[in-house]
Amino acid sequence: MCGIIARIGHGDATETLLSGLENLEYRGYDSAGIAVQNGSGVKVRKCSGEVDELKSSLEQSLHGNMGIGHTRWSTHGPPTDENAHPHTDTAGDVAVVHNGVIDNYDELRAELQARGHEFDSDTDTEVIPHLIDDYREQFGDTERAVREAVETLEGSYAIAAIVDGEERVYAAREGSPLVLGLDDEEWYLASDVPAFLEHTDEVIYLEDGDLVVLEPDDYRITDVAGSPIERSVDTVDWDPEDAGKGEYDHYMAKEIDTQPTALSNTIEGRVEDGNVAFEDLPAGTFADIETVQFVACGTSYHAAMYGSQLLRSAGVRADVLRASEYDQTAGPVDENTLVVAVTQSGETADTLDAVRKATDRGARSLAVTNVVGSTAARETDDAIYIRAGPEVGVAATKTFSSQAVTLALLTQRIAADVPTATPVEDREAMLQSLADLPEHVETVLETTNAESLAREYFDSDSYFFIGNGLGHSVALEGALKFKEITYEHAEGFASGELKHGPLALVTPETPLFAVATGGDDKKTKTNAIEARTRGAPIIAVAPDDHPLADAADWQLSIPDTHPVWAGLLANVQLQLVSYHAAALLERPIDKPRNLAKSVTVE
Ligand code: AGP
Repeated sequence: MCGIIARIGHGDATETLLSGLENLEYRGYDSAGIAVQNGSGVKVRKCSGEVDELKSSLEQSLHGNMGIGHTRWSTHGPPTDENAHPHTDTAGDVAVVHNGVIDNYDELRAELQARGHEFDSDTDTEVIPHLIDDYREQFGDTERAVREAVETLEGSYAIAAIVDGEERVYAAREGSPLVLGLDDEEWYLASDVPAFLEHTDEVIYLEDGDLVVLEPDDYRITDVAGSPIERSVDTVDWDPEDAGKGEYDHYMAKEIDTQPTALSNTIEGRVEDGNVAFEDLPAGTFADIETVQFVACGTSYHAAMYGSQLLRSAGVRADVLRASEYDQTAGPVDENTLVVAVTQSGETADTLDAVRKATDRGARSLAVTNVVGSTAARETDDAIYIRAGPEVGVAATKTFSSQAVTLALLTQRIAADVPTATPVEDREAMLQSLADLPEHVETVLETTNAESLAREYFDSDSYFFIGNGLGHSVALEGALKFKEITYEHAEGFASGELKHGPLALVTPETPLFAVATGGDDKKTKTNAIEARTRGAPIIAVAPDDHPLADAADWQLSIPDTHPVWAGLLANVQLQLVSYHAAALLERPIDKPRNLAKSVTVE
């Protein structure tokens, strides 16, 4: 969580820092701040609230050719002005922004206070500028002081620091993402590429243990001992426009609406002559795999449910595990186990931790992620990209669709290698109908009545979502989206579970969304009727003429397609309902309270 940015070059840094922070706000928006260095000291401006509030609080313009910035998701200390980053040492000469958690901050703080350092905040971060200052006093050399400071820190960090009187940005990473952006005349550092994508697409993904010194005409990467390190330069193939909101009111609206394009990119070149092909994963790659464990959180977990169910249908042993519960639920793991980390950001701490535990026990690892160069992509044996393009809204939308499709394809690729797998009966039909998915999503977007439905029900007491088989994961995802952005109570269940408890909550004030996939939906219909008998309004998310639609008060229609893809169309309808309900309730759709898109703490 938290987004950091730094920039050094020949022009003014302030505008670039602020616009970069806006593109990083998906990582946290409790407070924001910048520090610039302009020949008359290090100037810090920071406040609680979003970057917009920081902008309006910049009563007089701040100028300087170099600076650092931060947008915060609070861990240590509430979201106050004092706890906002950048933090400084006692004299205000060293300013630091930080993403991560410093585990030994308590003892460091006590030691530094004993040596006369004065602290202003409740944060773990504040020890860092004081430490750098302390080592500067000791060694008279800032670069050495930064190295000593990071050696003293325990925990995770991506940090950037500026120091009074020095035309340099110092940075380091350990366990939190940090990318270096290389333009002709300026250098950037940020937690993620969209922070500087409008300026450059040439990047270096820094590794744990890397230290960086940026100067206006040069940059250096070293290890913690000061030895130079070479890192390769990558070109990011995201369009800068993909990172902006364009004409839309919200990123979420844009991201829902651009799913046909995202899905076309996901699918492109991956089905050839009726077979699934992934670059870098040739036939035979999975020949010795006996069990697959999907690990993920939140929306990615729901996509992983999709994958694991499809793999089981192909006769391969597969489990889906909540990454945060991996220790308690993983069971036996060995070199014939493939652990698949499903993570949009590639930075989710719980997911990374689960993969590390699995690989420590001998498992092979594969990341299914949206972010090239992310920690998950770098730490696993192989990576598959979902190619959805940047997703900025905290609520995941297009990435769920692209994840589910990628995983569905991956399951066919794995099953083709595993000798004991049984081919899915209508595999050919399934792969053929995938080509129509982007167009079917377009149809949903053009014909949806989700806004009218949201208007009818947005002030209800609670919302329930049911589905069975692949529809179960869609029901869970529908409920997660709804609660996340509307702040209304919503829950998803496997259809058959409704009568085992949740039915007690059903009233005429609790609309129930029943997801049909065109597969075996009999249970869902029966369970929806049971809820309707207790007065609940029923919304069938189903193809026209589906029996479930006859039993419902409303229908959100989806094109008739293969049951494997139908759930994804239903999910688009549910995304739209959540979006419109949240808009009617005037919620901050892209930045729901208390949340952040990239959850880099456990
Ligand atoms: C969903 O809308 C959320 N943003 C959240 O559940 C998210 O899917 C989860 O935190 C996992 O993130 P990841 O895909 O980046 O690992």
